[in-house]
Amino acid sequence: MSSKEFSTVEVSLGDRSYPVVVGYDLFAEIDRYVSSRYEKVAVITQAEIPWQLDLSVEFEVFTIPGGEDAKSLRVVDEVSSKLAQFGLKRNHLIVALGGGVVTDLGGFVASTYYRGMDYMNVATTLLGMVDAAIGGKTAVNLREGKNLVGSFWQPKAVFCDLETLKTLPESQRRSGFGEMAKYSFLSSYTLQDLSLMDQVTKCIEIKAGYVASDEREGGRRALLNYGHTLGHAIEAQGFDRSLTQRLTHGEAVAVGIYFAAKLALSMDRIDETRLEEHLQVIHGYGLNEQLPNWIQRDSLLDYMKRDKKSTGTLTFVLDGKEGLEVVRDISESVVQEVLSEF
Ligand SMILES: NC(=O)c1ccc[n+]([C@@H]2O[C@H](COP(=O)([O-])OP(=O)(O)OC[C@H]3O[C@@H](n4cnc5c(N)ncnc54)[C@H](O)[C@@H]3O)[C@@H](O)[C@H]2O)c1
Repeated sequence: MSSKEFSTVEVSLGDRSYPVVVGYDLFAEIDRYVSSRYEKVAVITQAEIPWQLDLSVEFEVFTIPGGEDAKSLRVVDEVSSKLAQFGLKRNHLIVALGGGVVTDLGGFVASTYYRGMDYMNVATTLLGMVDAAIGGKTAVNLREGKNLVGSFWQPKAVFCDLETLKTLPESQRRSGFGEMAKYSFLSSYTLQDLSLMDQVTKCIEIKAGYVASDEREGGRRALLNYGHTLGHAIEAQGFDRSLTQRLTHGEAVAVGIYFAAKLALSMDRIDETRLEEHLQVIHGYGLNEQLPNWIQRDSLLDYMKRDKKSTGTLTFVLDGKEGLEVVRDISESVVQEVLSEF
């Protein structure tokens, strides 16, 4: 494989450091990596994902259901039992092949099975490549909330084969673009001028930097949540009302990014030129900055107060002269005013 066909970013975490490999046609490389290190492998994936690994060592494929509901303790239980029946031991490997649902669930299983074993992510969605597969946050959902049970458990390697994006539905591609738009404000790069491979690599470099400096999100890693206070509120309202025409995660984040910029403008943290830059990036990715017409504005504030960065008051990641920063205890009336004009 020539050096042009792939790039590697290291997530630097001392003896838990690992490579994130980005490129095209990586499946043979994945086989080489896995087969030279492990004797037995469990591949966790979904039936909807039209990509399969063919490994030179003993392996079996375990499928989980599609959709967010698969991130449950029930599925953890089912998959773990199947791994035990397969005879998977602590010195073997789990490969999570899929988007964020598969890597969150697979990573969580790996962190608990045999009290923690090696796993590797092969990301097949754009959102997975630039975000979910990297950084070691694993989780499943409870009825009471999303990602309430989880662990910090770093993979041994992550592979992002851009070839797999060829089969990704357009809505999922847009979801990845929403997260990529976010990275434009976490760096000084003009990402959109780059090739897809270089954009994905840059996003991973940025995320890897935040993970390396704040693995457990005690501080600056929280800046990766830019656009997520309103973004999560939009997503949560769509789920709670069981709407079929919801926004994907990244589409909701794009709206949230623009809202955070409007809020920053109203608080004199940024000027109109910077607000316009936000719009250009969001539109550059073909995304919309407006609230969807199904949204119930009256309850959005309550949803935003439930944001995980919040301690009961309104908390946003906001842009400013010194870059992004987590701003707590923002007055409800200020947020409400920006919301009513939005
Ligand atoms: N751990 C983290 O740091 C982190 C960060 C962001 C998001 N997440 C989690 O990620 C999840 C969302 O992940 P997602 O956006 O990747 O969605 P997803 O995993 O649900 O995948 C979206 C859909 O695309 C299908 N799919 C995946 N790859 C495909 C391919 N190559 N071709 C065709 N279809 C394909 C899947 O089967 C699924 O139906 C959420 O549960 C979220 O909480 C985790």
